[in-house]
Amino acid sequence: MVTLNVNGVRHEVQAPDDTPLLYVLRNDLHLVGPQFGCGLAQCGACAVLIDGKEVRSCITAISSVGNQEITTLEGLPARWAKQKGLSAEDAKNTLHPVQQAWIEEQTPQCGFCQNGMMIKATELLESNPQPSLAQIKEAFTTSGVSPNLCRCGTYVAIIESVKHAAEIMAKGR
Ligand code: FES
Ligand code: FES
Repeated sequence: MVTLNVNGVRHEVQAPDDTPLLYVLRNDLHLVGPQFGCGLAQCGACAVLIDGKEVRSCITAISSVGNQEITTLEGLPARWAKQKGLSAEDAKNTLHPVQQAWIEEQTPQCGFCQNGMMIKATELLESNPQPSLAQIKEAFTTSGVSPNLCRCGTYVAIIESVKHAAEIMAKGR
């Protein structure tokens, strides 16, 4: 049995130690933000934050996570609310600025890759609230184990959405 801390809740999971975190998130905890794309750490669709770092859950064994904090797409609103010190009531009606920007910019096409794109954007903006264009491109291409891939070609929209999310975050809403 492995205990996982996911979106602020501890879960005891009955699965072999080498089970990929993605399988547990989707099949046991019913968190379907992370997607199974390649299963080989080559696309980013399965990304989650582990202690604030973007990690490919398709190749992450549950036994390797320990007590670290896992945040999925579903946990981004609460993550933002906690960072901003919002009340529980306000937190219920809050989206993470990255999610808000993605909606306002109408970023996705088919949407399959966009979980990973929003997780990567969150990782970037938490460490660099005002990234340059070059830094945004670097984050999505060479900063991780592989580029974050989008078969629909939404890359330009993603860059605009990251800039928009940075503006929302700067306003603190
Ligand atoms: S499904 Fe994990 S990186 Fe592609
Ligand atoms: S929006 Fe379709 S794969 Fe990215």
